[in-house]
Amino acid sequence: MVSFVYDIINWEEKQLIKKFKDENLKINLIDAKNNELNLTGKNNIDNIAFIRCLSHKRSLYYSYVLESQNINAINSYNIFNTTGNKVFTSAYLHKNKIPTPETYVSFSKDNAIETSNKIGYPVVFKPVSGSWGRMVSLIKDNNFAETIFSMNDMINDKIYYLQKYNERPPRDIRAIIVNHEISAIIYRYSYKSWKTNLYLGGKVEKANLDDNDKELLIKTGELFDPGIIGIDAMESDNGLLIHEVNSRVEFRGASKIYGNKIIEDIANFFKDLLKN
Ligand SMILES: Nc1ncnc2c1ncn2[C@@H]1O[C@H](COP(=O)(O)OP(=O)(O)O)[C@@H](O)[C@H]1O
Ligand SMILES: [Mg+2]
Repeated sequence: MVSFVYDIINWEEKQLIKKFKDENLKINLIDAKNNELNLTGKNNIDNIAFIRCLSHKRSLYYSYVLESQNINAINSYNIFNTTGNKVFTSAYLHKNKIPTPETYVSFSKDNAIETSNKIGYPVVFKPVSGSWGRMVSLIKDNNFAETIFSMNDMINDKIYYLQKYNERPPRDIRAIIVNHEISAIIYRYSYKSWKTNLYLGGKVEKANLDDNDKELLIKTGELFDPGIIGIDAMESDNGLLIHEVNSRVEFRGASKIYGNKIIEDIANFFKDLLKN
């Protein structure tokens, strides 16, 4: 049995639950909102837990606690911890020689403004922990920086993640990696925003990447425990830059092109885990 830990059932969770049922893969549905974890005793959770919480913190705590009780958490605590924080992700990618945009973290508003001047406008500001492009801002000048950083002061512990803007085509690349293999790769095009998150509207297209680029995506995936992750990449003058890794990957957009393939790859991954 697999425990399926969720806090909301979105399109992906619905498809996953249906697929598991169709394949006779028995799952226990655990609503993290209504299920406390016993930190000092046993929990009623199977040996394998598929963690799909929308809340990053719920996933982080669930994965840590379950792993400490010898449960195989998919994704692992290490994945949730590293990829749920853009500072850690950038440092980890760079440490492992994965090309990634030039990025800084500042710890005060004044230093963030100085650093933005050093990077050169436009500067991309991102909340350290976030998704769907929320609050990811293209800062054009000092005045704009002052405004964004003041707002960040109020909500975000005075941590400023600042990145060089990459001149790129109006698209980026999303790879879905299942158990260290590429399940799907798409281009995401934006309609309304400079950001290409599908959440903000846009279209998808199958990405035909050359072997070098595919190798880079696989190499990036292999830096993480086997699991289900999304890798975001951008084209640049010097080849692909990896700018984000997602621990709760959405694949509704990619499924428009790949059909059931992604969901099948995920089901097969769990079948293999159950065999071992
Ligand atoms: N350095 C950058 N240069 C150009 N565009 C960027 C840069 N960083 C992010 N973007 C755009 O903004 C989108 C959201 O950024 P991302 O780092 O993936 O944050 P999120 O976690 O919100 O998805 C990306 O998909 C891309 O379209
Ligand atoms: Mg992203």
